[in-house]
Amino acid sequence: MSTKPQENKLKAAIIGCGRVSIKHIKALSKLSDRITLCALVDTNPDAPSHLLSGAKLKGKKLSEIKSTMKSYLNYQDMLSDIHPDIVAITVPSGMHYQVAKDCLLAGANILLEKPMTMSNTLSKELYELAESQGRKIALGHIYRYFPIVNLLHEDMAAGTFGKVGHGSVIVRWGHEDEYYKQAAWRGTWKSDGGALMNQTVHALDLMCYLMNTEAVSVNGMIANRFREMEAEDTALGVFTFGNGALCQVEGTTATFPNDHEASFFINAEKACIRIALRKGKPSYSINNAKGKNLAFKYLRKYIKRYGLSYLIAVAKNPHYGIYCDLYQAITEKKQPIADGRSGYLSVDMVLGFYKSVLLKTETNLPLQEEFNIEDMKSYPLHRSGKD
Ligand SMILES: NC(=O)c1ccc[n+]([C@@H]2O[C@H](COP(=O)([O-])OP(=O)(O)OC[C@H]3O[C@@H](n4cnc5c(N)ncnc54)[C@H](O)[C@@H]3O)[C@@H](O)[C@H]2O)c1
Repeated sequence: MSTKPQENKLKAAIIGCGRVSIKHIKALSKLSDRITLCALVDTNPDAPSHLLSGAKLKGKKLSEIKSTMKSYLNYQDMLSDIHPDIVAITVPSGMHYQVAKDCLLAGANILLEKPMTMSNTLSKELYELAESQGRKIALGHIYRYFPIVNLLHEDMAAGTFGKVGHGSVIVRWGHEDEYYKQAAWRGTWKSDGGALMNQTVHALDLMCYLMNTEAVSVNGMIANRFREMEAEDTALGVFTFGNGALCQVEGTTATFPNDHEASFFINAEKACIRIALRKGKPSYSINNAKGKNLAFKYLRKYIKRYGLSYLIAVAKNPHYGIYCDLYQAITEKKQPIADGRSGYLSVDMVLGFYKSVLLKTETNLPLQEEFNIEDMKSYPLHRSGKD
């Protein structure tokens, strides 16, 4: 995550100029010493200019981007014209697989938004394709890039916190019905999934990353209580991890949109770790057995390693951290922090969860075969109080 300017400038393109692409262009506008944004692609001809105005870029940042960037309606035209080193894929989730595959085959490294794809087998296939092509996949798993998270991961791996007892993850990321009505793909089983696949998938990934482990089974329940959408707005379940720890999960979009919350708790032998984001404000506590909060020690270490300006930049926009990391992964030939393997394992966790709901039984992970998310259409999500 070095922030030093490099001679090796890479060419980047963004495919899909909707809501999340604003985070990408803002991150890229701070990285013009390393990455040149050469193309914006969207099937909607107005989307690139909406993106530029939505990102509120001004002055030198805006003129730099405008001077290097071309707009395209078709991503294949862009790939053959530009030959980008990095493509950010920010199209609807149901399209991730095809676009990502085409970009990898065209020789690009990709920053693929979460969830990696809507299928466990296709996600794994993308990971294997990137490996065989010698290309990098970075996932839009923003939580891995929150300040100090990677230091906690390192210390957990080194055994500093001792045995992990259990964990708990809460994602209360409320959206109104209007959000689901904005685009036809939102909230559908085929192209988006529900609160678990869209909003909770990268939080599940974070628990694995923090605990240095992978899920071995899951037992879940889902319902649709408030939102007008095809998939679930509420999911509750329990994962068992390879280290023996249980982890409870709550993922919902049925709460108020003005009170977003994502919180992570790990109960380990030598410390209780709490990381929370509420209404955009982060909080950390890493309490040892004597009740001492070690969070400041970690913050100091993080600033010493990466600098205060990097900390502020990733705290404001974790996508900046993903781009810095992907740049480094490409130029120094290593894996990004949120790599392709984390992408397919987190999709596998979500689909295993859905499978356990459908079959009403604990499901072993990783899944041994494809679970078709559209099978969830037969599940009765809308229960009356008498059920
Ligand atoms: N990591 C995060 O924090 C985060 C946050 C929000 C969304 N996401 C993910 O990002 C993805 C996009 O979400 P969004 O909310 O920005 O969606 P969106 O609907 O706002 O934007 C998608 C854009 O893709 C365009 N598009 C569709 N088909 C295309 C094609 N063939 N070629 C080029 N452009 C095409 C659409 O016209 C639209 O502008 C989803 O997978 C979502 O899960 C990630």
